[in-house]
Amino acid sequence: MPGSHQPVLYQEVLIGLRPTPGGKYIDGTLGAGGHAAGLLALSSPDGQLLGMDLDPAALEVARRTLEPFGARARIVQGSYTQMAEVAKDFATADGSLQGVDGILLDLGLSSLQVDDPTRGFAFRLEGPLDMRFDPQAELTAAEIVNEWPEAELADVLYQYGEERQSRKIARAIGAARPLHTTRQLAEVVAEAIGGRRGADRLHPATRTFQALRIAVNGELEAVETVLPVAVSLLKPGGRLAVISFHSLEDRIVKTFFRQQARATDFVPPLKEITRKPVVTTDDEVARNPRARSARLRIVEKV
Ligand SMILES: C[S@@+](CC[C@H](N)C(=O)[O-])C[C@H]1O[C@@H](n2cnc3c(N)ncnc32)[C@H](O)[C@@H]1O
Repeated sequence: MPGSHQPVLYQEVLIGLRPTPGGKYIDGTLGAGGHAAGLLALSSPDGQLLGMDLDPAALEVARRTLEPFGARARIVQGSYTQMAEVAKDFATADGSLQGVDGILLDLGLSSLQVDDPTRGFAFRLEGPLDMRFDPQAELTAAEIVNEWPEAELADVLYQYGEERQSRKIARAIGAARPLHTTRQLAEVVAEAIGGRRGADRLHPATRTFQALRIAVNGELEAVETVLPVAVSLLKPGGRLAVISFHSLEDRIVKTFFRQQARATDFVPPLKEITRKPVVTTDDEVARNPRARSARLRIVEKV
């Protein structure tokens, strides 16, 4: 269905976060509101949810999805990195700011965004070189592609796309400047490094597009920032669930969870609920190919 987004690892998230009546939940990446609706339904009749997203278009869809829950759902535009400030009243319990039972971060972008050519996320759809989650943000993909020095562009492609041919691509982009559209960029990359590669036969521009999106939105820095903030808002016994979609994100989540769960000289602040990440079943991938690379990790505050 165009204009929709199927929540990934839906049952697994709900089982992991165990919503109960009266509980308080934060969804830091509300998207179309699929997971949030599940959290609200299972915490009926009086569970509450605070949902955040950078993208006003996503919030519009989420508002419709969550309408049946009335005032139990609170929706705020903003970055999940601002969660502590936004949740100040919501998260307070017994005078402390540790009142939240469960927090979800479903990282990356939604189908609503990928399928909208005007957002510039997809190399298969003609659109502007944009890629911002927040349309008010200053940095666009066009600026990186057309204005950053080739060496910096190559670093972005290498670090955020794990693109081994980053220099070759950066040189080709430099020579083809200015580039205005997603298809122009995809063609320059394909010409520079050739056809589909590897066992999974990725389109040659896949890594370049991923890298630019991560750089435009500061995604890795945001994940690093939010993890300790989210944990600080949880009640003892509260849980944080994070779904990541590529190895760079997953490494940050895994390292943080592990460090916090393995401290030896004091009681570790977190317990790992998923020792290994929960991955999608073949059934889910058949229904929703975009769920393919999802990895869910859950911790509980001790
Ligand atoms: C995979 S989607 C979430 C889908 C959602 N779980 C659902 O069921 O519909 C990820 C969402 O996170 C949002 N996002 C990305 N970075 C963000 C940030 N730093 N703060 C808030 N939202 C962010 C994106 O705009 C996107 O809507």
